[in-house]
Amino acid sequence: MVIEKKDSAVVITSVEGREGEVILTGDRPTGPLHIGHYVGSLRSRVSLQNSFKQYVLIADAQALTDNAENPQKVRQSVLEVMLDYLAVGIDPEKSVVFVQSAIPETAELMMYFLNLVNLGRLQRNPTVKSEIKEKDFGEGIPVGFLAYPVSQAADISQFKATVVPVGEDQIPMIEQTNEIVRKFNRIYGCSVFKECKAFVTAGGLLPGTDGQSKMGKSLGNAIFLSDSEKEVTRKVKGMYTDPNHLRVEDPGTVEGNPVFTYLDFFDPDKSSLEEMKAHYRRGGLGDGVVKKRLNDVLQEFLGPIRLRREEYAQDKSEVLNVLKKGTEKARQVITQTVKEAKQAMGINYFD
Ligand code: TRP
Repeated sequence: MVIEKKDSAVVITSVEGREGEVILTGDRPTGPLHIGHYVGSLRSRVSLQNSFKQYVLIADAQALTDNAENPQKVRQSVLEVMLDYLAVGIDPEKSVVFVQSAIPETAELMMYFLNLVNLGRLQRNPTVKSEIKEKDFGEGIPVGFLAYPVSQAADISQFKATVVPVGEDQIPMIEQTNEIVRKFNRIYGCSVFKECKAFVTAGGLLPGTDGQSKMGKSLGNAIFLSDSEKEVTRKVKGMYTDPNHLRVEDPGTVEGNPVFTYLDFFDPDKSSLEEMKAHYRRGGLGDGVVKKRLNDVLQEFLGPIRLRREEYAQDKSEVLNVLKKGTEKARQVITQTVKEAKQAMGINYFD
């Protein structure tokens, strides 16, 4: 997939000057969130919520598009993800956190959008294409899965969101959303929907503990925000490093060494980190020492998150209540937008 690094028609790398605009962002609930999510999206949401109207979607309906036979996984993960959000500091007073399946108007909007997209275009969507390859749908591709970019277009445009913080793999979704928005406005002679930009933060991708380019739950190379202290230590000890750094006295490579990549993100003491890197490059610094430092740094970072998560987890019904309130708030906005869309289409018979 071609990755666009610079600002382009759909990509922005800074939100300066956009304060007050509407943000929509979200995750598929297929398991608890990991430190890769933190680096890639959660930390930026925590700061964006102060100067934007931010909606955070738990996309359970989208998660079901390739988990139709596994609804309990999706169901359980909704609460896990919500706990992760709260634990890292997504504040429900500032961000509207909501659950996708509880809002039928989104599905309704998707239904109208589906008529504006052709099959070939969906089949050519690069993200969908590579996911289809990865997933190996034995009995054929579920229509719901193939059409999930249209559902995502509804997620975004139902709030008239203009800024969508996403990973680079989601850029094709933003392009497809904007195509739908333009087509809707043109065909129905209105300006109900707005085009949006993908907000991609530079350098936001954390590799897996195995050194693979991406951390992923299904790849078995993730450190979860909810991992116990012991689990974190175990994972750090088992991390991939420089495979050519066999003896302590050998010179080691820092670039592409995930232990150092993690330290770059999480170690607050940058000058001692630079010294460590120089020492590692020269030789004479063992992987065990570097991993020990990473373990300390990660425990320091994850400790308070784990504590807050445990506190919230003690009152699950209150957490669900917060999610319900967010969903009600979101639904009000969505209902209004869908009403405008139906007016534009002239199918508002009983108004
Ligand atoms: N597809 C996104 C993911 O896999 C989740 C998502 C659903 C989303 N709807 C969205 C992201 C709308 C941004 C905007 O992570």
